[in-house]
Amino acid sequence: MLTLDCVSKSYASGQGYQKVLDQVSLTLEPGRFTALVGPSGCGKSTLLNLCGLIDRPNEGRVVWQEEDLSAVSDARLTEIRRQRLGFVFQSFNLIPVMSVWDNIAYPLMLTQTAKAEQKRRVNEVIDAVGLSDFIRKRPDELSGGQRQRVAIARALVKQPALIIADEPTASLDEDTALTVIRLMKTLSHQFKTTVVVATHDSRLTPFCERVYQLDHGRLLPRVQRAKEELVS
Ligand SMILES: Nc1ncnc2c1ncn2[C@@H]1O[C@H](COP(=O)(O)OP(=O)(O)OP(=O)(O)O)[C@@H](O)[C@H]1O
Ligand SMILES: [Mg+2]
Repeated sequence: MLTLDCVSKSYASGQGYQKVLDQVSLTLEPGRFTALVGPSGCGKSTLLNLCGLIDRPNEGRVVWQEEDLSAVSDARLTEIRRQRLGFVFQSFNLIPVMSVWDNIAYPLMLTQTAKAEQKRRVNEVIDAVGLSDFIRKRPDELSGGQRQRVAIARALVKQPALIIADEPTASLDEDTALTVIRLMKTLSHQFKTTVVVATHDSRLTPFCERVYQLDHGRLLPRVQRAKEELVS
């Protein structure tokens, strides 16, 4: 689906450069749930920004479904992002003046999806995240867990090939975090979506089929078995 091939990323720092990612290679297989873990500042968001085609590497290649993106235009990256990728962020990034329904429908409005199809798809994902009774509420009338479920529904509604989730449970209490991650896992199976998630939260990694640790710019695989029995 998406391959990062020996990518490096540096940022200017003081007089010199800080190499945040050093020759990192990663393949996100279709339908698989992958986690990136590591301490604050180790480069998880930097790596997710490369996976999400928000940023480009200084070295190495990013390949999307056999298309080498090294030399493609920003417009092409935006097109793939809009049509094929879904994002879930720590801070939800919902639009405060819009209802739950409109927040979720928004990506379909951007891609000019027909109204009837919008309605069908929004209803399907609202139902899947258990918020059918909240469609007219605004985000500030919801709890943190409910807001994150809206954000997950918004990411799913495009039926993206890949969902990129950066600390999706960081603003949630322990029980809600577990509920949200279980839901993401269940939905990724239901909608056959590939997911990559960055997290500090070691309680989440048992749900992930692949876990990688970022350590001084390098990506190390961590032996991990998904505890399917934890998924309701
Ligand atoms: N736009 C930027 N300009 C300069 N330095 C940056 C930029 N973005 C990130 N960095 C630096 O790169 C390093 C990795 O940052 P990154 O946000 O990827 O870490 P992270 O693992 O996501 O951390 P956290 O768990 O706190 O979210 C940090 O040292 C950060 O200061
Ligand atoms: Mg981060």
